[in-house]
Amino acid sequence: MSGTSIVGWGMSLPDKVVTNFDLEKVLDTNNDWIIERTGIRQRHLGGSTESLATTAVSEALKVADLDLDSYGGLILATTTPDKTTPGTSALIHKNLGISGFAFDINAACAGFIYSFVVGHQLVKSMNKPIVIVGSDTLSRITDMTDRSTAILLADGAGSLIISPSDADDCLLGFDLQVDGNLEEILYCDLGGYLKMNGKEVFKRAVRAAEKSTTKVIEESGYTMADIKLLVPHQANQRIMDTLCDRLKIPYERCASVIEETGNTSSASIPLALVDAIKKNRLKAGDLVLMTGFGAGMTWGSALLKWG
Ligand code: COA
Repeated sequence: MSGTSIVGWGMSLPDKVVTNFDLEKVLDTNNDWIIERTGIRQRHLGGSTESLATTAVSEALKVADLDLDSYGGLILATTTPDKTTPGTSALIHKNLGISGFAFDINAACAGFIYSFVVGHQLVKSMNKPIVIVGSDTLSRITDMTDRSTAILLADGAGSLIISPSDADDCLLGFDLQVDGNLEEILYCDLGGYLKMNGKEVFKRAVRAAEKSTTKVIEESGYTMADIKLLVPHQANQRIMDTLCDRLKIPYERCASVIEETGNTSSASIPLALVDAIKKNRLKAGDLVLMTGFGAGMTWGSALLKWG
């Protein structure tokens, strides 16, 4: 088997739903403003990074239906590990009973793209399936009295399983980038709350995602017209709409769950992709373009062939 395929997928959201109307009661904000500026109507809050990831991966393992002893390992993308050490990935790995390694990657909201690319290389070199999971509990690092972040940030998890297969490689191209000089526009000190310069993040996120996706598409010999589904990091509906406009991708080809989930950092791309998979939006051979950006500033894109 010389190729790779995505053979499993799963997701998890905490039970507790907080609507914009709930936030109106405790913050100087309102439903209309939040919808107009962000596209978010509600978000799910609660759980731990370990518990959300365990549920999402359990679902993905059932879909993949592979021998648990056949796994090469698990990569967790997270900005909010439950402990300083051990890595939260070790605890998820224990809960699932799969074989192989486990490690965490912190590349903020680009973490799922980073993890997917690293995981894909490991599937190729180990010739074993690898679990990728993005899980975050941003509510634990959000100052609920700060309206600039409390309206955006939320909790959730999403997972994919990549396996060796007889098909072509599912990863056709990628771009991973970081600029640590931009640390101050989005950061969280140890034990503190997330601080954000919203306008600056907005501007830079659009530019980075446009440049990165264009690079991947050009290098892989396709055009934006070939993309069946764009799966951007779910940070703000206006960022996604602006990106679609700039890339000339029709809005209906953009996966979006932000209205219901808010920004779940490392979980946001797999949540949007798994939602599209469950709605049967993809068929064999479709091209999927994922792109993410976040604190660091990190950003990255990956082009996938579905099926
Ligand atoms: N509710 C109600 N009003 C608010 C508000 C809120 N939560 N936040 C700001 N406002 C007000 C401001 O006071 C300002 O009022 P004024 O015009 O009377 O001065 C007005 O709304 C516009 O504020 P501004 O900060 O310019 O809003 P914005 O259009 O930049 O939207 C964000 C703010 C945070 C939604 C937007 O900048 C954003 O989404 N940035 C990207 C954030 C992001 O994606 N972060 C994660 C990256 S991984």
